[in-house]
Amino acid sequence: MGRKFNVAVVGAGLVGKKMVEVLIEREFPFNKIKVLATREREEHIAGRIFKVEKTTVEGFDGIDFAFFAGTEGEKGASQEFGWKAVEKGAIVIDNGGDFRMHPDVPLVIPEVNSHHLKNHKGFIANPNCSTIIMLMALAPLHKRYRIKRIIASTYQAVSGTGSKAVEELDRQVHQYVKKEQLTKDVYPHTICFNVIPHIGNLSEQFPGYYSEEVKMILETRKILDCPEILVSATCVRVPVFNGHSEAITVQFDSQPDVDECRKILSAAEGVKLVDQPENAVYPCPIDVSGSDDVFVGRIRKNSAMENALDMWVVGDNIKKGAAQNAVQIAETMIRMNLI
Ligand SMILES: NC(=O)c1ccc[n+]([C@@H]2O[C@H](COP(=O)([O-])OP(=O)(O)OC[C@H]3O[C@@H](n4cnc5c(N)ncnc54)[C@H](OP(=O)(O)O)[C@@H]3O)[C@@H](O)[C@H]2O)c1
Repeated sequence: MGRKFNVAVVGAGLVGKKMVEVLIEREFPFNKIKVLATREREEHIAGRIFKVEKTTVEGFDGIDFAFFAGTEGEKGASQEFGWKAVEKGAIVIDNGGDFRMHPDVPLVIPEVNSHHLKNHKGFIANPNCSTIIMLMALAPLHKRYRIKRIIASTYQAVSGTGSKAVEELDRQVHQYVKKEQLTKDVYPHTICFNVIPHIGNLSEQFPGYYSEEVKMILETRKILDCPEILVSATCVRVPVFNGHSEAITVQFDSQPDVDECRKILSAAEGVKLVDQPENAVYPCPIDVSGSDDVFVGRIRKNSAMENALDMWVVGDNIKKGAAQNAVQIAETMIRMNLI
């Protein structure tokens, strides 16, 4: 029998709950799963009852893997407990953005850059959901034709903001149907039957960009080890419950062969090609939600730029964009004997 691990999941929101589901679904070799959050209670997750404990440093005693899915920022779980959990001997895999660009923290998509896990210092970051979904489609092509430039527009689901945003879209749809006044708490504008070109805070480093867009720029360069790749993104929140979509233009050093790119993507681990535009066959988030893979369609030669392709990429932001990628990092570390 192989080794089994003591696991803690910090955060019992959308990502934390999905993390527990994915650990069970993928038969991760755990002894026990402990769920931690801001306060004690019981939660029903994956058909089981979990006694959620309040997060404390002592809570990480004896834990091998700690998956962090708490709120980001100063009072968030990673900043408060992340490195303390590492001191207690746990491997921390963090879903949030607090330490992704830290030089001692590998930022990993297992199918793309698992080699970055070697020489880890106990703290690993899961990339931003939009970056994971984009690079699952682009990294296999980058190996064959080197990427020079990426221009991406995203169509991001409300689940990416967390459970309160899912409730907000649901509530506004009901209010609209009942012809009631639409109320809003989470977004600066109504999200129901609208689109909002604003995700995160305004950046000082890249004037005019919001932080989600900056994550796509900086994380892409770190993951691909290519500081010279030029990236521009416009991130848009859309009234979709789950599943992020991205319209991507990618320019390479040389002219890519579209058929060869289709073959490369068909063979790529974790990627599914769904590309028959003549039959209205292309990925849509409502179909992709719940899937493990990232789906690619509408692949075509860009008509306005040399050496460039356009494509449409869709992935489940809570699964591959967050919980599943984190669990895959732990599985990869076990396989590589890094724990
Ligand atoms: N949603 C996505 O698509 C996505 C994708 C990639 C990454 N992420 C990241 O994953 C993290 C979680 O996102 P989410 O969508 O699951 O958010 P969420 O639904 O709002 O849940 C946040 C959870 O964090 C817990 N928490 C907050 N502060 C904490 C603290 N100081 N100590 C311990 N627990 C704390 C909360 O506890 P209580 O339940 O007790 O309030 C709650 O369970 C965020 O960092 C987010 O940026 C999300």
